[in-house]
Amino acid sequence: MNKIRCMINDVQYEIEGVPPTMSLLHYLRDVLHLTGTKEGCNEGDCGACTVVFKDAAAKPEPRYRAINSCLLLLPMMHGKKFYTIEGLAKGDKRHPVQDAILKHYASQCGYCTPGVAMSLFEATYRHDMTKPWQFTEQMAGNLCRCTGYRPIMECVRELAGTGKDEFADKLREPELPLDTLDYEYDGERFYVPSTLDEACDFKSSHRDAVLVSGASDVSVLINKHARKNDVYMSLINVPELREITIDDSGLHIGAMARLANLENMCQDKFVPFGRILRYFASHQIKQIACVGGSVGGASPVGDFAPVLMALNASVRLISSRGIRSLPMSQFILGYRKTAIESDEFIYAFDVPNIPENARCASYKVSKRLELDISSVSGTCYVETDENNIVTVARLAFGGVAAVAGARAKLAEAALIGKEWNEENVEIAAQKIADDFSPISDFRASAWYRQTVACNMLRGFYQETLENHVPARMYRPTATIQLEQ
Ligand SMILES: Cc1cc2nc3c(=O)[nH]c(=O)nc-3n(C[C@H](O)[C@H](O)[C@H](O)COP(=O)(O)OP(=O)(O)OC[C@H]3O[C@@H](n4cnc5c(N)ncnc54)[C@H](O)[C@@H]3O)c2cc1C
Ligand code: FES
Ligand code: FES
Repeated sequence: MNKIRCMINDVQYEIEGVPPTMSLLHYLRDVLHLTGTKEGCNEGDCGACTVVFKDAAAKPEPRYRAINSCLLLLPMMHGKKFYTIEGLAKGDKRHPVQDAILKHYASQCGYCTPGVAMSLFEATYRHDMTKPWQFTEQMAGNLCRCTGYRPIMECVRELAGTGKDEFADKLREPELPLDTLDYEYDGERFYVPSTLDEACDFKSSHRDAVLVSGASDVSVLINKHARKNDVYMSLINVPELREITIDDSGLHIGAMARLANLENMCQDKFVPFGRILRYFASHQIKQIACVGGSVGGASPVGDFAPVLMALNASVRLISSRGIRSLPMSQFILGYRKTAIESDEFIYAFDVPNIPENARCASYKVSKRLELDISSVSGTCYVETDENNIVTVARLAFGGVAAVAGARAKLAEAALIGKEWNEENVEIAAQKIADDFSPISDFRASAWYRQTVACNMLRGFYQETLENHVPARMYRPTATIQLEQ
């Protein structure tokens, strides 16, 4: 197929004649003149551009997912159904989301409102929102400058899981065919394979192809830095890469596993992932961004690499030559440099079980609690023997060095063989200052980064005195906490 086949508000489109690097937001506004969807930041930060798509492969059943249309490249729409704000009302009959916004006075200037409405729309058909954190998380990617968040939070509390109308029925309707897309326009080629074999073959014959998972990084480079490439390959329609499983050997995360799915799965098991993901980007980004994309760019301020590094994970790389496995410590080679060969891509991550005698917790410090890149993130992992002597120590950080998930080797060495007590932790914490020479930038000064990294280890000691693998405490992040 060489046209992008998709549905928007129940109308089928076969898109051609536009660049593959055009975002859904600009296609909606500039080509279809559906201007209800708003542009704010054009880089995933404000939520004004939120739309929903039907995730037909979601488990246990199909569901809607709210995403930022400014970050979705058109070929990624192939084979999927989308709804925008224009699709909600039927003639004069308002959708329950619109009624709730009116009832609770949840809109003033209205600029954010179409995006807010689409996040509320998704919540209306979600049946898994039972915990307090899920309500704030659902709306955390929608900024509103004038209404105040209380009325918006009242809407989501009222609507969540109530949808039993025609949109609920549409979740059971048949899908569009998911065939392979090979789209080209004006010298830009965008390949969207539907099988793993096709993906491997294409990558081995197009070694410069830029891989696209959720495009939350790739699109920002296109939108804000005009960084374009001749060839792209998106893994969005390869089902094998989406799997997340837990078995006797541990946790296995497919490269295309949605961050949102991993967050939900890791609230009680492999909790350090659940903890870090709560304050990772926004709900909309986590619905489309993937674990492979999070580590594939080897960003030194990425939150995911420190967790994988501290938990001693390994990465499986795939190509038409086969699959090979590498420990994370051999995968990250330098500043934004990984061991991926030009015909390979990330297939999955394997994370060993966290044993009973292990303490482990992940941390993130950023200027803003929600929707912010870390100043420093870190994951600490320590095992002790029956005499409380440290046998294993892995302390991995983001934001303090050029490499993603940098290990504090001097501090680790200071802990090994010593009793796990406050005095020895203090000695190790001071070593972290020797481990890293961070830079100062607009997010944080070098002094701040170093001090925070040292304090993370001190805090880790205190926090894990009783509960060895603590979950993050629920802290409401909207302006007001509603009674639960
Ligand atoms: C508003 C906003 C907030 C953000 N907040 C955070 C945050 O809090 N913490 C954080 O860590 N990051 C954050 N990010 C960065 C980014 O969204 C995440 O790192 C995200 O996980 C990237 O995943 P993706 O699937 O969208 O990657 P993509 O954009 O698709 O890809 C990212 C990189 O990985 C490569 N890649 C993709 N898939 C593979 C693969 N299978 N094998 C090899 N290479 C691959 C791509 O070529 C590209 O270089 C934020 C981004 C935005 C826009
Ligand atoms: S326009 Fe701000 S998130 Fe898309
Ligand atoms: S109503 Fe004005 S920005 Fe939200």
